[in-house]
Amino acid sequence: MRVDVLTVFPDYLAPLRLSLLGKAQESGLLDVSVRDLRDFTTDRHRSVDDTPYGGGAGMVMTPGPWGAALDAVLADGPPGVRPRLVVPSPAGRVFTQQVAAEYAADPWLVFACGRYEGVDARVIEDARQTFTVDELSIGDYVLFGGEAAVLVVVEAVGRLLPGVLGNAESLAEESHTGGLLEAPAWTKPAQWRGLGVPDVLVSGDHARIARWRRDESLRRTARTRPDLLERLDATALDGADLAVLAEEGWAPAGARLVRRAPDVSN
Ligand code: 6GU
Repeated sequence: MRVDVLTVFPDYLAPLRLSLLGKAQESGLLDVSVRDLRDFTTDRHRSVDDTPYGGGAGMVMTPGPWGAALDAVLADGPPGVRPRLVVPSPAGRVFTQQVAAEYAADPWLVFACGRYEGVDARVIEDARQTFTVDELSIGDYVLFGGEAAVLVVVEAVGRLLPGVLGNAESLAEESHTGGLLEAPAWTKPAQWRGLGVPDVLVSGDHARIARWRRDESLRRTARTRPDLLERLDATALDGADLAVLAEEGWAPAGARLVRRAPDVSN
């Protein structure tokens, strides 16, 4: 996968060279190129922003450098593929594991990091001619700029690329993959600060362990992320799943789960 990042803080993206994403680049699975937007300015001060039309606080990024930078990226990318332009913005669609999986199937992602109060709207309008454009938010809070969001998105997408993660099973079982949170985990020593490990995990009974983990996963999701349960396909749950969820106060209603009065029978 080819990834281009345009930013006025190229050093901010240095962590992409580290760890497993760095390895993915060394092995050619991922090709990341970071460019400084100021290299595409034409004035003596290398300016990238100006005051907003209509007034208001803050500054807006001017279209000139963005247009030139995106043209340079296009000229240098893999031929014959339509790139996806990802514009990090708190006003974008929310990034989830599902979006990460979608992006992992793309051959070419281009990230345009805005700073200040955003980028002149014509940049996106014009880019739609050549790119599939996504305005993307990493959550309901505000950052200074898109750089931290790009680190998040490239890490989440990069680890889904075939060959990047040594153990592909980790992908199938992790949190959010099946719309649930993952069960907690334990390792050696068997006793630590007076705390032990759940007996079932040392039982050697793999079917029982799998069921126990599934129960923990359902309980954890019910307690900390009920919003995830509301989106789950209830028809995909088995009797044991529904029994655990009943204890947590959830019942199937058609293809969905709904919260009902707490179970006080035991
Ligand atoms: Cl992607 N960018 C900025 N600037 N702020 C954000 C964000 C992105 N996601 C949440 N807040």
